[in-house]
Amino acid sequence: MIISKHLLGLEGVRREEISLILKTAQSFKEVLSRPIPKVPTLRGKTIVNLFFEASTRTRISFELAEKRLSADSINFASSGSSVAKGETLKDTVRNIEAMKIDMVVIRHQASGAAHFLTQCLEAGVINAGDGQHEHPTQGLLDMMTLQEKFGRLQGLKVAIVGDITHSRVARSNIHGLMTMGVEVAVCGPATLLPRDIAAAFGQDLLVFKKVDEAIQWADAVNVLRLQLERQKNGLLPSLREYALHFGVTRRRLEDAKREVVIMHPGPINRGVELESDLADSEFSVILDQVTNGVAVRMAVLYLKSGGEQEVMNGNGA
Ligand code: CP
Repeated sequence: MIISKHLLGLEGVRREEISLILKTAQSFKEVLSRPIPKVPTLRGKTIVNLFFEASTRTRISFELAEKRLSADSINFASSGSSVAKGETLKDTVRNIEAMKIDMVVIRHQASGAAHFLTQCLEAGVINAGDGQHEHPTQGLLDMMTLQEKFGRLQGLKVAIVGDITHSRVARSNIHGLMTMGVEVAVCGPATLLPRDIAAAFGQDLLVFKKVDEAIQWADAVNVLRLQLERQKNGLLPSLREYALHFGVTRRRLEDAKREVVIMHPGPINRGVELESDLADSEFSVILDQVTNGVAVRMAVLYLKSGGEQEVMNGNGA
């Protein structure tokens, strides 16, 4: 299979490629359970993690994935760099590439920043979240978690609840899940749903106005972080009202009489979009998502740097 050296989003990525990434991630998850959870797969490769925006899970799991694959990792944070003196993104990355690097992982507040880097660099570019565009490795780790939990993706029903318009996690999930044959629904306040959602994602995407209906329908609910800055922009009357109408709670699950799997990309606003107790309950797979993030990122780094042999039997491990 011919695979692009970049991963900018899940829109347009073929089912075969997503399946290969998920299968490879499962093999790497086995590697991670070994007493010495490390393989020489990317020895000699240098990967730069460029983080222009805050991150806990994505930054640490990319760094850990690189170490588990024996790559050399360089971590760049915009604060404390020459970006603070006005250096442009293009100059920053071209100077870093001049030091001979093989791959760049970038998180940036601007939608399109990862795509822009592909125009400036020879190195492979992995999008770790760009503005409101996409967060493809989050979409992949969410699919891996669902596949583990249910043993399949085809035919599952997944509801994504919250701020759909501004969420890169929602966009990557919708594109990836639909490609894999999952039925997808969204639910949120009208001010946080794209105006023409069918034009954005296609006619097959379902829309629920009430979170209780979404829970009643779904096998899994992916609860999005409420971006608190949206309240300042007048898109929400108050956090209390949001929690009342769209907060996912144990009571709502009990009313629906459904054992729904609860997902969240983090960080959680406890008591706003998700009841604190439910986040830590038997319904939650939130920490499984985080665990799977390392294996998925190992798979992406491995495949995007040219590997496609059997991980367990070939040079991969
Ligand atoms: N899910 C996610 O992107 O979390 P971080 O912002 O902590 O990386």
